[in-house]
Amino acid sequence: RTLTNEELYRPNFHFTPKTGWMNDPNGMFFYKGIYHLYFQYYPDDTVWGPMHWGHATSKDMITWKEEKIALYPDEKGYIFSGSAVVDVNNTSGFGSASNPPIIAMFTYHDIIKDKAGALDYQSQAIAYSLDEGMTWTKYEKNPVIKNPGIKDFRDPKITWDAIHNQWIMVLAADIETKIYRSSNLIDWELASAFGKNLGVHGAPWECPDFFPIKVEGTTATKWVLLQSINPGGPNGGSATQYFIGDFDGKTFSLETSFANDLKQVEGLWIDYGKDNYAGVTWANISAADGRKLFIGWMSNWQYANKVPTKAWRSAMTIPRELKLITVDGHYRMVSEPVKELDNYISKTIKKKLLTIDKTTVIADKEAIDMSSLDIRFTMNGLKEDNYDFVLSNKANNAIHFGINKKDHYFYIDRKNVSQTSFSDDFAKNSTKAPIASNFNSIDVRVIIDKTSIEIFYDNGKTVMTEIYFSDKPMESLSIVQANSDFELKNLVINQIAV
Ligand code: FRU
Repeated sequence: RTLTNEELYRPNFHFTPKTGWMNDPNGMFFYKGIYHLYFQYYPDDTVWGPMHWGHATSKDMITWKEEKIALYPDEKGYIFSGSAVVDVNNTSGFGSASNPPIIAMFTYHDIIKDKAGALDYQSQAIAYSLDEGMTWTKYEKNPVIKNPGIKDFRDPKITWDAIHNQWIMVLAADIETKIYRSSNLIDWELASAFGKNLGVHGAPWECPDFFPIKVEGTTATKWVLLQSINPGGPNGGSATQYFIGDFDGKTFSLETSFANDLKQVEGLWIDYGKDNYAGVTWANISAADGRKLFIGWMSNWQYANKVPTKAWRSAMTIPRELKLITVDGHYRMVSEPVKELDNYISKTIKKKLLTIDKTTVIADKEAIDMSSLDIRFTMNGLKEDNYDFVLSNKANNAIHFGINKKDHYFYIDRKNVSQTSFSDDFAKNSTKAPIASNFNSIDVRVIIDKTSIEIFYDNGKTVMTEIYFSDKPMESLSIVQANSDFELKNLVINQIAV
């Protein structure tokens, strides 16, 4: 029997809407034990259209319940990306001390026709919920920030700035980030702008996020700006760069060492794969938890509207915990899947040590279902130029990934995965992530769902996320022979069952 499109392509443990089109994650907040995820949504087709906010809820960010549509477009425009916060002290006055309102801020995208023709018009608006994010009322005096004459002016992300006792909001404005502040979430004052000559440009910036984060292993706090860009990503199309610095309550200034690092590279990126875009973090995570929790849209504007799924289009990445570390005096963001994924391990195969002296099967369908995996291992004694892994099936559908030590990059190559013709940009080139320093040993973690691979090298210091569409389910993961032996240690193959 041939599998249905649903059976073949609907991910097992990555969020997808039941039907319709989805892009960016929006308005994520945590409240009373529930993680909320809203998303750019067009229910009436599987291509981008008049934007709504879809909604899903979860107790652990792994299994999701799709809820009713949260926000519909109206006469003021489509509902573009934005954020939501729990207004704990009712600073906005929309709720009460005993029932704090949830405030969402989003971009109205409208098209204004005048003598000059049709003009995009983007402004910022708010809505509030008095029932924990289930239903929303749009503020009657919207917009709260009018368009100042900038075509691309969108994607407000609010954070409570406990250090300066204020709400702050970042907005993508053409090729810079504008930082606003407020005491009541309604009246916003422009505080500063960041980034005109920094990082990668050449296209509008989109979907920023800005928050303080502890430097691992110290008591210091730095500020991180996540800034998506499309196109301009390291492997073409959409991707998310980041900046690290200090914030005085008004102005964000780059850390000197980070500014120097930026001169050496074409941007620093949360993920170097082609399919992690517009990701932002959850609001209202308790201090006791203390994590920065992130989710991204697992696609790329180059081909998102064309991927071969039928009832729905797009999935989210696995939710990730972001951390800020220092490596030899350099600040770097790292990310790894949230620990909640461990609760869904239904079966584990372990091998202490494999000596790889010929092409070796690491896992195959005789032993484990290859469409739902979390695999971890350490590679030791790496002396060769290249180490190549292949996820494949008997229909000769194959996705390669690995380490090119000689030319210093990690890669993914999906040319032979079969379904690639929907877009020239999908598999034309193998995608690359730079390797910063030489190593003989490395930890690798690979999350495989039916249509996605997320690779975390060296505890999340380099991440590559990509989607793929094969004719038949994948059947095995192998490591291709290198000239000299090396060790694959502490191999753990976890089956994920949700
Ligand atoms: C990013 C983006 C946002 C915009 C939304 C529209 O993917 O272009 O800038 O708000 O998608 O759906």
